[in-house]
Amino acid sequence: MHGAGRRPPLTGGQDRCVSVPTREWQLAARPHGEPTPQDFRLVEREHADPAEGEVVVRMLVMSVDPYMRGRMRAGKSYAAPWGVGETMKGGAVGRVVASRSPEVPEGALVLTDAGWRDVAVLDAAHVRVLPDLPDIPPSYHLGVLGMPGLTAWAGLFRVAAFQPGDAVFVSGAAGAVGSLVGQFARLRGASRVVGSAGSPEKVRWLIEELGFDAAFDYHDGPVADLLAAAAPEGIDVYFDNVGGEHLEAAIGALRLHGRAAVCGSISAYNAVTPPPGPRNLSLLVANRLTLRGFLVGDHTDLWPEFAEAVTGWLRSGELVVRETVRDGLEGAVPAFLDLLRGGNTGKMLVRLAGDPA
Ligand SMILES: NC(=O)c1ccc[n+]([C@@H]2O[C@H](COP(=O)([O-])OP(=O)(O)OC[C@H]3O[C@@H](n4cnc5c(N)ncnc54)[C@H](OP(=O)(O)O)[C@@H]3O)[C@@H](O)[C@H]2O)c1
Repeated sequence: MHGAGRRPPLTGGQDRCVSVPTREWQLAARPHGEPTPQDFRLVEREHADPAEGEVVVRMLVMSVDPYMRGRMRAGKSYAAPWGVGETMKGGAVGRVVASRSPEVPEGALVLTDAGWRDVAVLDAAHVRVLPDLPDIPPSYHLGVLGMPGLTAWAGLFRVAAFQPGDAVFVSGAAGAVGSLVGQFARLRGASRVVGSAGSPEKVRWLIEELGFDAAFDYHDGPVADLLAAAAPEGIDVYFDNVGGEHLEAAIGALRLHGRAAVCGSISAYNAVTPPPGPRNLSLLVANRLTLRGFLVGDHTDLWPEFAEAVTGWLRSGELVVRETVRDGLEGAVPAFLDLLRGGNTGKMLVRLAGDPA
């Protein structure tokens, strides 16, 4: 691993030379089971000056997400695998520090898929200019107002067809997606919101600050028993972030015509052999249940209604947002490894630079 390189200030302009040194994380090896720091390598590189139509972006904050574990694997997951030796990618918000594109001017705040590095030279067509609002921190575009927020929105309202009065159970409830699912359900009139998470502190946070009606630590016993105690009359909607034992327990708790949005199965992401599936699938017939998997990318048409409602809840103070923030590009791998072990409450992020704007 290399140390921090020199950081000459970047300068912009059509005809000025721009020196673009970057540091980037590459995939060094494919993990077997839980990833380790040895599976990653931090390298220094020098990029060519931006060509016509390109911009130089200094990243302010990057996201680490569970789907990245899938990208470390050669086989099929819901995102394409990274090659060994390839610079990894992910959501990041940055400032344009030099531009050769009139559409994306110097100083613009942009969303990119060029995380895992501090500076990137990008095709301007591949970045999205973000509204630069004083009351919306840039990091929100990676969480509550970004991909995880839309995932919660699409999964709850479209995929699980939530209706006011439904009783909702969400696993991974203290994470980026789960903490929003529970709050969206509460704000839209759920009769009961139940969550599961991995520590007593997280359980307390769900109940005392997010307004969940009940929550449990899944380490405290069989999930089916804990769920039965938390939702004695059963549930109408299950939002599955975890899979495995949680999914089986939820199938057992779903009432007639219950629906599950199958969003992820993080309990199996480090598994070396596939874990057994739920043993109670006959309940799908008896209770006319629907289990539906989904990918957020298929639901981008929901952006306008999602962004409008969530911005409103943020401004009215009805939505609680928490982020777990690590510092510096060196902190990206520990942040990612910690995310997979539950080290985050709310969205896990890595702060890369102060915002000059
Ligand atoms: N379908 C899609 O388009 C889509 C989009 C985004 C995310 N996702 C999925 O949504 C889920 C949540 O993602 P996120 O970004 O919000 O991550 P997150 O919940 O913020 O972070 C992951 C959490 O998973 C929990 N976890 C880890 N191992 C576990 C285990 N064995 N059993 C139960 N919980 C475990 C940890 O919390 P605890 O302390 O509670 O264990 C950890 O904090 C993931 O499955 C992800 O793959 C899907």
